[in-house]
Amino acid sequence: MENQTPERKKKILSCIQSSGIPTLGNYLGALKNWNLLAQEFDGAFAVADLHAITVRQNPAEFRQHTKEVFALLLAIGLDPEKSVVFIQSQVPQHAQLAWVLSCYTQFGEMSRMTQFKDKSASHADNVNVGLFTYPVLMAADILLYQADLVPVGADQKQHLEIARDIASRFNGIYGNVFTIPDAYIPKQGARIMSLADPTKKMSKSDPNPKGYISIFDKPDVIMKKFKSAVTDSEAHVAVGEGKDGVNNLIGIYSCCTGLTAEQIEHDFEGKGYGDFKAAVGEAVIEQLRPVREKYELLMADGAYLNDVAKKGAQTASHIAERTLSKAMKKVGFLQEIK
Ligand code: TYM
Repeated sequence: MENQTPERKKKILSCIQSSGIPTLGNYLGALKNWNLLAQEFDGAFAVADLHAITVRQNPAEFRQHTKEVFALLLAIGLDPEKSVVFIQSQVPQHAQLAWVLSCYTQFGEMSRMTQFKDKSASHADNVNVGLFTYPVLMAADILLYQADLVPVGADQKQHLEIARDIASRFNGIYGNVFTIPDAYIPKQGARIMSLADPTKKMSKSDPNPKGYISIFDKPDVIMKKFKSAVTDSEAHVAVGEGKDGVNNLIGIYSCCTGLTAEQIEHDFEGKGYGDFKAAVGEAVIEQLRPVREKYELLMADGAYLNDVAKKGAQTASHIAERTLSKAMKKVGFLQEIK
């Protein structure tokens, strides 16, 4: 209709660090949803390698992990012709906007971040300033692309809230510069727990490899880890208080099969944990199989990956520059001496 602007297609953005090989937690809590949402929305997805150096990285391993995680983004099904898929450090606007935003973020706000408190406790010998200002860089990632929706696991909720606060504060001073983003946290899979200690989040930095499933673990390794998963002494496949291990396995099985917890309880009525663990292991193997197969093909084609990364960075930089220059102009940076 005349004079009527068509409704803008919603934008989504999310990133994953390249500090190691991603886990089943990353996949079920985030990556799987990226791919689903990318069918419907304008998507931008990045390997957050700048974030990864808040913890010391071995340079050769770090380069390799960044390549692997980039290949993984394509292996999960993201189509670089439809979504912008890129490596964060190749788009300089992220670090630039992060500096500007850091001047609109309070020390007290950052001090309250639980991830900072946890990480500074687990890396007490390297509590660097980057670890402290990490959420500001994350806010820049999101705000540069004017994202409406940010699909993440539950552990990123607090960082999303701070991104919203920073954006609202900036908009409050300078007018409408940034879209205020909403977190998209899935009902199922938002917090996959360790298989060895189900009171702790599944994490790639867990020193105990039995605690996590790496996305690239081979089927026999996956099955072995599920068979040794910590449960309880009840031998009853049901959701319940104090049954963290079983609750976690039911959650994982539900994500992989689409069955509800009630259906799972019904199907495993009268069966022991041995049968259930084997079924969960099998479901996870089948879920990850196509991803691993595609990943292996992609990793063998470095030239293709490089090409996609270059094009992705160019497109991302173009989009990001629009927002960055708008924000810098509002703040009063001199653009041209007349
Ligand atoms: P990262 O790299 O730790 O994890 C990537 C995504 O995986 C989710 N996740 C989990 N979900 C369920 N269960 C788990 N056990 C689990 N472990 C991880 C995370 O919630 C995340 O969605 N700071 C971010 C990366 C980042 C980012 C961004 C995210 C940088 N910039 C901008 C969104 C938007 C991080 O460290 O995620």
